[in-house]
Amino acid sequence: MPELKTHEVEKLVRLASDVRDQAYAPHSHFYVGAALLMNDGQVIVGCNVENASYSLSICAERVAVSAAIAAGYRSWRAIAIASLGGVTPCGACRQFLSEFGSDIPVIMVDVLDGSLRTRKLSQLLPDAFDGSSLPSHA
Ligand code: THU
Repeated sequence: MPELKTHEVEKLVRLASDVRDQAYAPHSHFYVGAALLMNDGQVIVGCNVENASYSLSICAERVAVSAAIAAGYRSWRAIAIASLGGVTPCGACRQFLSEFGSDIPVIMVDVLDGSLRTRKLSQLLPDAFDGSSLPSHA
């Protein structure tokens, strides 16, 4: 997989930051946007969606992954996550993302100053549990 080009990173960061404005987070007031870069150049986005029954809330990353799956994609090149402070994805999202490849860069964007921090998903979730551990695995 070719390295990400500067303009691809910029687009991903911009779209993650833009979709953050759509976040539904009336309970935490912590707004998050995520953007996935597809192999064909398409970008698929998601934002967090909270619920009065707090545990039903879903993170931006899992919304983006679910939207990408529904659009027919099964792998992607990178994810950007935009938040105040440029937080790292939660453990559940690391696991959810790793189902579809653990080699991708995770770009964390601090919307306050636009600064970026990048890690491989495999750095954030080493020794991930995956389908190869299941008895049903071919
Ligand atoms: N959240 C995300 O959407 N992604 C993250 O990477 C961290 C946390 C959301 C979940 C919840 O709606 C709010 O941020 C506070 O935890």
